[in-house]
Amino acid sequence: MRDFVTVNDQPFYVVDEGTGPPILFVHGFPLDHSMWNAQIEFLSQQHRCIAPDLRGFGQNAAASEMLSMAQIADDLADLLVAIGIETPVTFCGLSMGGYVAWEFLRRHPAKVARLILCNTRSAADSPSTKETRYATAQRVLAEGTAFLADGMLDKLLAPANRESMVPAVSQLRPTILNTAPSTVAAALHGMAERADSTEFAAGIQIPTLVVAGSEDILTPAAEMRDMAMQIAEATFVEIPAAGHMTPIEAPEAVNAAIEHFLSEM
Ligand code: MLT
Repeated sequence: MRDFVTVNDQPFYVVDEGTGPPILFVHGFPLDHSMWNAQIEFLSQQHRCIAPDLRGFGQNAAASEMLSMAQIADDLADLLVAIGIETPVTFCGLSMGGYVAWEFLRRHPAKVARLILCNTRSAADSPSTKETRYATAQRVLAEGTAFLADGMLDKLLAPANRESMVPAVSQLRPTILNTAPSTVAAALHGMAERADSTEFAAGIQIPTLVVAGSEDILTPAAEMRDMAMQIAEATFVEIPAAGHMTPIEAPEAVNAAIEHFLSEM
């Protein structure tokens, strides 16, 4: 199914494909469900793959207020109820999707059986990162998202992939450009104000897969390895020749890592 689902009177676009143990895919900023296309295609052979557009993103109506990670987590919990999922899911989040994972686990722990954290971090923003986010939000509201797309593509992909992976680039750019400026600003504010989850992450007791890209400059592999070492049941996988968008840059390696992780349970 690829359709809108009404959650608390608001339509959310959701891809819901395959049958089996459910995996909830939570996209990064400022993207949409389509960043998980390769994972949905492969993993839906044995799993129910649920990949929504988050509040304000993708095909959903624009967001206009501060979009907190807690709000997104609550939307996802309600969405699972709306589509009839009663068993705990594998929560798979990339970057901002990982920030949402901490809130989802805090607020809805019974809904998560396993965790997959791709290219993300547990630490909060530094004061200077916060400042940059607020300045970027203001500029996006004034100018639109074109400058953001240009600046971000260089940071999202490993240098070699910017040239060679035309389909990935051609998928990412329009997605960023299509995101409403008010949503971008709302999410930037939400990420700036997110809690530090370093201690919380260290207390996680469910099986966890941590996936890093060897050339990720936004959430470096070394930082992700340190984070994984704090989590009791974590497995760390570093994907070679990938930047921040490992699921797009190295779909086969990421699919294999997830399949292996899920088969061990
Ligand atoms: C993302 O990919 O979701 C963003 O890079 C997260 C961030 O800006 O911290």
